[in-house]
Amino acid sequence: MTLSFRPSDVLNMSGNLPPKVPHVFDDAYRAAVQHVMSSCEPSHLIGAHQFRGSERDRALGARFVGRRMPESPAADRVVVANGTQSILMMLLAGIVGPNRRLAIEALSYPTVQTFAQHLGFELSPVAMDGEGAVPEALEAICRTERPAAYYAMPTIQNPTTGTMSVERRKAIAEICRRYEVAIIEDDIYSLLPKDAPPPLSSFAPEISWYVLGTAKSLSAALKIAYVVAPSAEAAAERFWPGVRATYWMCAPMNGAIVSSLIETGAVEDIIEAVRAETRVRQAMVSESVSSPDLRSRPDCLHVFLPLPADRPAKDFVARVRALGVDVSPASTYAMNDSPAPNAIRFGTGTPRDRAAFERGLAAITKVYRG
Ligand SMILES: Cc1ncc(COP(=O)(O)O)c(C=O)c1O
Repeated sequence: MTLSFRPSDVLNMSGNLPPKVPHVFDDAYRAAVQHVMSSCEPSHLIGAHQFRGSERDRALGARFVGRRMPESPAADRVVVANGTQSILMMLLAGIVGPNRRLAIEALSYPTVQTFAQHLGFELSPVAMDGEGAVPEALEAICRTERPAAYYAMPTIQNPTTGTMSVERRKAIAEICRRYEVAIIEDDIYSLLPKDAPPPLSSFAPEISWYVLGTAKSLSAALKIAYVVAPSAEAAAERFWPGVRATYWMCAPMNGAIVSSLIETGAVEDIIEAVRAETRVRQAMVSESVSSPDLRSRPDCLHVFLPLPADRPAKDFVARVRALGVDVSPASTYAMNDSPAPNAIRFGTGTPRDRAAFERGLAAITKVYRG
């Protein structure tokens, strides 16, 4: 096996982390750590496994996800876990599992494809338009391929940045209900926009698993995500020690720190700071790329840039790389080798500061302008 490492002087813009906002984050995080240390006995905090998170963390998790819901869910439907990937692994293993099928947008989060290989299930890629999954295409797949679940990213889709309208969400929820297909909704990009439509899950809560991670709005490696199960019983059944694994559990200290940030309202300040920095970087993108083809929005971490036909994405990526910057071709996100548009995706938040971002953007623009 060959391992390839990115030389340290190559600027990573293929990743998609929120920009660092130390002027707000650092003091808020320090205060939260101090609060946790002074308000609990460490041996009590970490003395026992909390399979679905402590009662306090689940209650504050319900408050956090409530910012996206018509109303906060009951805390016993909420599970606090070690990031979105851990939740997805549990849900995909439990709801889909070997030899069954998962419907997924044709371009989507590549990790799900890795999970399909690990867990032995098949993917059914769903055709997309500017909003995301096309209802008629999903329905045809539900009818003919009988997927056990649909992995949905209806708000600021990765990589295309599409967001489903309320009408689209209702139509998709209805199809899933009719064909008894569970919805696994990954809403990780929904916290920066202030006008995101309600989650898809809110239109069919009885069949939906709503997942809200903190990695794209607060900080990349906090390792806390919340899942809202269709019911308290379903939460207890899917996330319980009988599966003889505990990898999804968050470290109690992490859970308690994020709870403290939620309780004091510091999460709002951090999200606002990430949003503000993202808007500045997105304004720089619109100004320098300035193309009607550009697909993004001011409060979106990533940019999807369709390319002219005579400039294939793979060559484009290689030319940007020769200038010391990494971006991804759309084919990285193609499920089951679905046809990928001639486009690239790059993240705005991964460069450590604005100057580094400017350098990366200049390289992309130079190649784009040819
Ligand atoms: C759609 C999507 N979900 C989840 C994640 C990762 O979330 P976490 O770090 O909470 O596992 C990413 C990161 O790239 C992502 O793009």
